[in-house]
Amino acid sequence: MPVITTIEDLRALAEKRVPRMFYDYADSGSWTESTYRGNETDFQSIKFRQRVAVNMENRTTKTKMVGQDVAMPVAIAPVGLTGMQHADGEILAAKAAEKFGIPFTLSTMSICSIEDIARNTQSPFWFQLYMMRDRDAMVRMIERAKAARCSALMLTLDLQVIGQRHKDLKNGLTAPPKPTIGNIINLMTKPRWCLGMAGTRRHTFGNLVGHVKEVTDMKSLSSWTNEQFDPRLSWPDVEWVKEQWGGKLILKGIQDVEDAELAVKSGADAIVVSNHGGRQLDGAETSIRALPAIVAAVGDKIEVHMDGGIRSGQDVLKAWALGAKGTYIGRAMVYGLGAMGEAGVTKALQVIHKELDVTMAFCGHTNINTVDKRILLPGTFPTA
Ligand code: GLV
Repeated sequence: MPVITTIEDLRALAEKRVPRMFYDYADSGSWTESTYRGNETDFQSIKFRQRVAVNMENRTTKTKMVGQDVAMPVAIAPVGLTGMQHADGEILAAKAAEKFGIPFTLSTMSICSIEDIARNTQSPFWFQLYMMRDRDAMVRMIERAKAARCSALMLTLDLQVIGQRHKDLKNGLTAPPKPTIGNIINLMTKPRWCLGMAGTRRHTFGNLVGHVKEVTDMKSLSSWTNEQFDPRLSWPDVEWVKEQWGGKLILKGIQDVEDAELAVKSGADAIVVSNHGGRQLDGAETSIRALPAIVAAVGDKIEVHMDGGIRSGQDVLKAWALGAKGTYIGRAMVYGLGAMGEAGVTKALQVIHKELDVTMAFCGHTNINTVDKRILLPGTFPTA
């Protein structure tokens, strides 16, 4: 068993253990993948100011996201098909998050259902919603999230149409995989994954199958999105969702200051500065570069979170220093899960927490809530 010390170690192990089409689904962006790659690399040019001879004892990374206690300003991002990275993947990731004391966000496009997560965890989780044409199905899904005691709803605003990810088309991505010769040959090299899948009945989109009507191919993500997602989604619909839900509302997919201002007007509790992990508009600004202007414009009116490119606790600290009151990990979680199931997600969280905690100490702080831009070296970070 290799010694795991980084998210990259987990990624490399996941690449060996997860069937090619699901590994590729996670490790890809749209078109040229320039925004996907840039999300990660733009963190690297930001430098810290090292401070010394400061008492480093009794450190804490505890804070709040949308009023809820978190062990560090990190939540699990909603990731479609997580239950194809590893059998019962969403349940395992939710358990790891619960034990660590951070929020788990379940995707609409998950394999395990809202009810599966509720049955297998005690702490409230968050539910991510896509706007669908079938409003009755939307109402039912919001009701299911309420019945499951979800403590926040995250409405994704940047996927009315889907960005083209070449690998998914070439691989013929479906959940479960179709029994083609190519897939069978690839699955034969993933015995661990196959054994896990043989032990669960959760093999396709658990939130949707049996709940949403009129989809021709139940197993294909692109059919779902093309046939069901509502391309007409606009701000009055956000208001409608807010009314139906009545609880904490997080709007995900904001990249522009004007949209951030509209989000404030909508009365949402938080926004996530996000380009969908570089999976939607290739060529969009990277998340960490988009963040400062949005924080400057609306940071005192709404809680600003971010996702995209976070592969270490140092990235979390940089985003926090630039004003993000919360961050999300999608791929870092998926790699842990694909590598080692629940233990892998726990490992990913431990790796990130340790990097965050120790880096904070090197920068001369013992409490994350006192950390701000001053820990960053001037001239190395994006500004508003
Ligand atoms: C769906 O949310 C995706 O990015 O694949």
